[in-house]
Amino acid sequence: MTKAPIAGNRTGRKLGQKVKKTKLKASSRRWLERHINDPYVQRAKLEGYRARAAFKLLEIDEKHNILKGARRIIDLGAAPGSWSQIAANVTGSTDADVRVAAIDFLEMAPLPGVKILQLDFLDPEAPEKLIEAVGGTPDLVISDMAAPTTGHQKTDHLRTMHLCEVAAHFAIEVLAEGGHFLAKTFQGGTERELLTLLKQNFRQVVHVKPGASRSESVEMFLLAKGFKGRKPATAEEADEQDR
Ligand SMILES: C[S@@+](CC[C@H](N)C(=O)[O-])C[C@H]1O[C@@H](n2cnc3c(N)ncnc32)[C@H](O)[C@@H]1O
Repeated sequence: MTKAPIAGNRTGRKLGQKVKKTKLKASSRRWLERHINDPYVQRAKLEGYRARAAFKLLEIDEKHNILKGARRIIDLGAAPGSWSQIAANVTGSTDADVRVAAIDFLEMAPLPGVKILQLDFLDPEAPEKLIEAVGGTPDLVISDMAAPTTGHQKTDHLRTMHLCEVAAHFAIEVLAEGGHFLAKTFQGGTERELLTLLKQNFRQVVHVKPGASRSESVEMFLLAKGFKGRKPATAEEADEQDR
């Protein structure tokens, strides 16, 4: 069971530490203090995850059961790679039989069983490259993408929502029937059109706020479960699906 970590110091570091007043700006000092005192950061270190974000996915899975049975997973906005670590683990992915494809425009250190693309997901070539990299039809598309911040809240919000929409269209294009789509979104920010699209294509659509997602953050996750499948566009495609 994924329990919220309790304040402890199994990493050898006490919680509640203060950062000395040095040349750091007050905002940077506050960030650093929050980071080193964050029990999820300490637990990620302890359990070998590259980021505290691991616990968001694990908590969502605990409640909604999306990882079990996944054979191929595509991870969008994957760096530094904690979701990919989990994905490789649940799919049993290895370098000889790769079942996880990850994309990020930032560099990401190699992970066994994960094909990493250093590319903008909005690049027109990204969808094809991801499908090629994952080696078959994925049954899970997960996206933790957030647009780099500009400092202008509304712009940042719109850009992340755009990423979420493009990811949703991608998931509908590539998922296997019965598959799931999970994406980062913002509180109150999911467009009605996107929700309608997801409800048309998935059996269940819910918003989730895992405990590991900081309460002061407007971050939420949109989970669409049970992809209903693509309708064949042509008679040939219908024949193909029947075979
Ligand atoms: C919150 S981090 C992901 C953390 C990751 N889930 C983990 O567990 O380690 C969001 C990532 O999305 C990436 N990102 C944002 N926009 C992107 C885009 N258009 N294409 C590819 N990656 C993008 C960022 O570079 C960043 O690394």
